[in-house]
Amino acid sequence: MEHTRIKQLLLSEETGKEVIVKGWVRTFRNNQFIAINDGSTLHNIQAVVDFEHTDEAVLKRITTGAAIRVKGELVASLGKGQRVEIKVAEITILGDSDPEKYPLQPKKHSLEFLREIAHLRFRTGTFNAIFKVRNALAFAVNKFFNDRDFVYMHTPIITGSDAEGAGEMFRVTTLDLNNLPRTESGDIDFKEDFFGKSTNLTVSGQLEGELAAMAFGNIYTFGPTFRAENSNTTRHLAEFWMIEPEMAFYDLEDNMDLAEELLKYVINYALKTCPDEIEFLRNRLLDEEKSKPQAERSELDLVEKLHFVIENRFERVSYTDAIEILKRSKPNQKKQFKYLIEAWGADLQSEHERFLVEKHFKKPVILTDYPREIKSFYMKQNEPDAQGRQTVRAMDILFPGIGEMVGGSQREENLEKLLTRMAEVGIPEEEMDWFLDTRRFGSAPHAGFGVGFERLVLFVTGMTNIRDVIPFPRTPKSAAF
Ligand code: 4AD
Ligand code: MG
Repeated sequence: MEHTRIKQLLLSEETGKEVIVKGWVRTFRNNQFIAINDGSTLHNIQAVVDFEHTDEAVLKRITTGAAIRVKGELVASLGKGQRVEIKVAEITILGDSDPEKYPLQPKKHSLEFLREIAHLRFRTGTFNAIFKVRNALAFAVNKFFNDRDFVYMHTPIITGSDAEGAGEMFRVTTLDLNNLPRTESGDIDFKEDFFGKSTNLTVSGQLEGELAAMAFGNIYTFGPTFRAENSNTTRHLAEFWMIEPEMAFYDLEDNMDLAEELLKYVINYALKTCPDEIEFLRNRLLDEEKSKPQAERSELDLVEKLHFVIENRFERVSYTDAIEILKRSKPNQKKQFKYLIEAWGADLQSEHERFLVEKHFKKPVILTDYPREIKSFYMKQNEPDAQGRQTVRAMDILFPGIGEMVGGSQREENLEKLLTRMAEVGIPEEEMDWFLDTRRFGSAPHAGFGVGFERLVLFVTGMTNIRDVIPFPRTPKSAAF
């Protein structure tokens, strides 16, 4: 390879040597100064052209977005904010970019605009920073589990089960939609389909993960999951990535400890390995804050916020206690939030979660022991409380500005209890035979959780719309490419 990456060059002390750089033009000023970026770093390297001795036709082709090769001497720079630059001896245009047509101009574009041209937004500083942080977090997740002897299990994308029992699945079919085979009772006959049964894209790798945990002890999955929930919010995607560890012989306490440790570890890893990117995102946010009234500005900047989470123990509180806190709370003056919750048993709305995390505890909160009726069938049932109310050993981790980051539980290991619950919620036993074998043969206490990876990336980058932290967002009515 003849060229050096810009990240390396900017660290280089060896001025005076000849270097070759290949990258894309960010700006070209005064027919002289090219800012070149090759994606290896947020920073550009400046290349100085001797325009008097450069062909005019070539100078015209040095436009924003063009791919170029530059050969020259690495020299100390007199410019501000850069130690070195390249004194160009030879310049080649590798790929032109028509400035009249290229949508990215050398100026600040709004995130809304960049979402419209999501296929080009990787080329901006903001998205370079976001996806570098995403990359670091993904690596940290794998490192965290690998260092602790967890086995990375690849659970299937196409499955026959609905792990969450919420019916929010995308069907997978090869059937001719205009000519569907029907059973005698008029239902679609999936026996005619590719797999001979009805299948869907996975909503969670948990159930398959449980099978593996019952053999390896500790495993995790980290892959794409799909939900056909029609919620067009800044926190929901139809395709998102989930980190799902599953551990034999863990109870709910162990589960919470592991989740808290994982989150702190990966956030710390991003801070350590992406200081430039996080600093860039921090400044971006500070700029944005300036346009807000003083009262609405956040007390902590991005870096302070990340350190705060790493350094403080998450608050652990039961659903029942949280309801009491919510009942005692007052809706705020501006009626922005109605904190009051109707009754024990209701699911928390995002305004309730925000109140608990942002106003009451002012830190991440782990809510435990939810009412059985609002949680999934596989969660371990607690003994009914003094008032006969039935809860399960669930835990949700709520984060400031994000809401639910993690959902998990200790699992019901008792076969009879699990079968009864499945019957109550209408899950056919025969379809889950494979899963039930974990409870039939050597059943053991176990627990696990799922982290929404994009929500984690949202938190660490300080971004506010989930569409901006996944390279190719899929949301209702939009999956452009
Ligand atoms: O709470 P959920 O539905 O839990 C499960 O799927 C369990 N099977 C996990 C387990 O115990 N192994 O989803 C887990 C997390 C949520 O807390 C949230 O962060 C994220 O996944 N999530 C979504 N993220 C983006 N878009 C969506 N539509 C999401 N739905 C859930
Ligand atoms: Mg959940």
